[in-house]
Amino acid sequence: MTPSQQRRTRTNLGRSKFAASLLLAVSLLSSVSCTRKTEQAADGSAKTSSSSEILIGEYGSFTGSEATFGINTSNGIKLAIAEWNEKGGVKGKKINLRSLDDQGKSEEAASAMTRLITQDHVIAVIGENASSRSLAAAPIAQQNKVPMISPSSTNPKVTEVGDYIFRVCFIDPFQGTVMAKFAHDTLKAKKVAVFVDVKSDYSVGLSDFFKKTFKELGGTIAAEASYQGGDMDFKAQLTQLKASKPDAIFIPGYYTEAGLIARQARQLGIDVPLMGGDGWDSAKLYEIGGDAIKGGYFSNHYTTDSTDTVVLDFIKRYKAKYNDVPDGLAAMGYDAANVLIEAMNRTADLTSAQIRDELAKTKDFAGVTGKISMDANRNPVKSAVVVKVDGADNKFVTTISP
Ligand code: PHE
Repeated sequence: MTPSQQRRTRTNLGRSKFAASLLLAVSLLSSVSCTRKTEQAADGSAKTSSSSEILIGEYGSFTGSEATFGINTSNGIKLAIAEWNEKGGVKGKKINLRSLDDQGKSEEAASAMTRLITQDHVIAVIGENASSRSLAAAPIAQQNKVPMISPSSTNPKVTEVGDYIFRVCFIDPFQGTVMAKFAHDTLKAKKVAVFVDVKSDYSVGLSDFFKKTFKELGGTIAAEASYQGGDMDFKAQLTQLKASKPDAIFIPGYYTEAGLIARQARQLGIDVPLMGGDGWDSAKLYEIGGDAIKGGYFSNHYTTDSTDTVVLDFIKRYKAKYNDVPDGLAAMGYDAANVLIEAMNRTADLTSAQIRDELAKTKDFAGVTGKISMDANRNPVKSAVVVKVDGADNKFVTTISP
């Protein structure tokens, strides 16, 4: 190649690079400014997103055996969005929410995530509660570089999926320690039996972390048994656990099974305290478990017995909108939405990458579930409460800090 040929090639290259970046800039601009066409939602309603609106996605269990998780989280999210929209939205744009029901199933959670990203083109996604479902959907958010923020998935693996995955709750190594300390220090238990849902990442993880700390504290695991979410008869395993003569039984599952297990345990004459984790948090726990679950203890993210004005204010506004007392799920949904929207508000031009970066910078956010600061692994460090089931209400027992 002669020097002049070389020069020409370079200029051509330079020109085509310039043309390519111009094209990119134009297409980026148009994707921001164009008005997207109206889309049909699952319920037949029309959904529109345009330059004057921001669309956030949400996926959760609105039906199925963990329906209160999805419904109450969504209520919390919607309250936060309504409050922002009343104040004028984010950067002059109204926030809209696209909610998809995953029916409490991991496969449905994954397809909901795909749909939110590829069809609805949401800017960020809030969800899920259950760790197994967050784990099924998070890789899709990560691959597509769409930020996902889980309100209450506590299994450590969730945010390990990648740098686009966040949460606003504490994680299970801490929650397991909280209940192990509580069993040891407060209940003075020496031998605890553990009853695990082997199909749930949450249950398996939490039971492992509990056992580790309880043994470190000098306690003994009297016996272990397992069930699978959806089971209804737990008598065989409970009979086995009873024979180990435990001082307490730890059941790190979700409320539907925990309620049934409590009933069957009492029928079999098991009268020791029952303990659980945040998965017990539902008004349905007492409806299903009745007096058998009364007196049980579980760790949670928040308590309505708080005297903090941030919390009291939230409870008041939530009650006014839904005529119901917000449970932990509603509180976590509210915090997740506010952390996300505040991050969006801090960006220069609302790209998913900028939202990710701002989410990572979240510091001392005054949530209704406590102060939220993201650590290097996108997990906040927060305290937990232990509550006692007292009929339909739960009574605050203690706060345990990390
Ligand atoms: N922490 C549970 C999980 O990771 C979900 C959950 C959170 C359930 C809060 C109830 C209340 O699976």
